Amino acid sequence: MSARTPAYVLGGTGYVAGEVLRLIAGHPQLELGGILSESHSAAPIGEAFPHLLGAYGDRRFAGIDEIDAAIRAASAAALFSAAPHGAAAATIDRLLSAAEAAGTRIHCVDISADFRYRSAAAYGAVYGHAHAAPARIAEFTCALPEHLGTAPTPHIAHPGCFASAILLAIVPLLAADLVEPVLFASGVTGSTGSGRKPVDGTHHPRRHGDLYAYNPLTHRHVPEILACAEAATGVAAELHFVPHSGPFARGIHVTVQARLRRPSSGASVREAIAAYYAGQPFVQVVGGPPRIKDVVASNYAHLGVAADGATVAVMSVLDNLTKGAAGGAMQWMNRLFGFEEAAGLTAPAPGWT
Ligand SMILES: NC(=O)c1ccc[n+]([C@@H]2O[C@H](COP(=O)([O-])OP(=O)(O)OC[C@H]3O[C@@H](n4cnc5c(N)ncnc54)[C@H](OP(=O)(O)O)[C@@H]3O)[C@@H](O)[C@H]2O)c1
Repeated sequence: MSARTPAYVLGGTGYVAGEVLRLIAGHPQLELGGILSESHSAAPIGEAFPHLLGAYGDRRFAGIDEIDAAIRAASAAALFSAAPHGAAAATIDRLLSAAEAAGTRIHCVDISADFRYRSAAAYGAVYGHAHAAPARIAEFTCALPEHLGTAPTPHIAHPGCFASAILLAIVPLLAADLVEPVLFASGVTGSTGSGRKPVDGTHHPRRHGDLYAYNPLTHRHVPEILACAEAATGVAAELHFVPHSGPFARGIHVTVQARLRRPSSGASVREAIAAYYAGQPFVQVVGGPPRIKDVVASNYAHLGVAADGATVAVMSVLDNLTKGAAGGAMQWMNRLFGFEEAAGLTAPAPGWT
């Protein structure tokens, strides 16, 4: 019998689900138990993800009843949800209930927004529909692994991709009281951040060779980011964020600017941020401005710092599908199961992608 823990993935043919599969394929203690697809049930995994053929051969997507039965039959199960917000909560609730009924040890990391809010009312106000599993909300904590020691709940809500890049930059600034809590951020994301289904504003002919802002100062993830920052630092900050669509497939580059509390050099702020992340395996504070290519397809995030005495700029880069989604979720899953936090995640970026 295999000593590996079976992992179950929701979100089937989506980009993040594909990245979760890629990471499971290289994980020393997990193996794929099953991946749910609403639209491709029983189709070969390699049909949706040809780059994973070598890892999964003739394995196929599964339906919900098959996943449910497999979780009931397992002694332990790692559940990754990469389904869209609004669709994730009900399926997670069903599978957690199945595990509870069967006595299966289960931990879930949800990469959607469904369990990021502390109340169903707060979720409904932002997303415009009722929460599908309000009784489960208290079982989830929303945080980055770098900003919380031990998870106080059995399950985790991953904060998301832009949120990861911004939180890595702002939490050390707020925690050390280095800046006034009024933050300005500008970020650029690659096209995989928009998901697999092509829509007019995000598909290749429109996006290639171009750069444009979207939802300036109205991005709906801002309240989630601020709630995570406050939970990590105790500081209620303001964030004014302008996201952009970039002409590349993977990666996020965010620049956060703020006014310094005390006149400081770039070197001293860099030192403070590096000290905050000392011992964290996936956050590196670099000497100059960080570049997306140095982290794409890896679980590493790079932070760069500049200061002019009165203000500071922190540049933060990561891969939206890895550190900003599947890899960050895997970090949490490793902790929840008591594996090495970095298990399956230490491959460096390929560079020159
Ligand atoms: N893309 C990113 O960079 C990123 C980063 C952080 C967080 N996230 C979050 O991660 C989740 C997945 O993102 P993604 O970019 O992988 O999305 P995506 O490419 O659009 O894929 C989502 C997949 O979910 C499945 N699905 C299940 N129920 C669905 C429903 N009711 N309607 C539509 N699709 C449904 C579909 O696959 P099947 O039909 O095969 O089931 C679909 O391909 C989202 O909640 C997103 O907000 C994404």
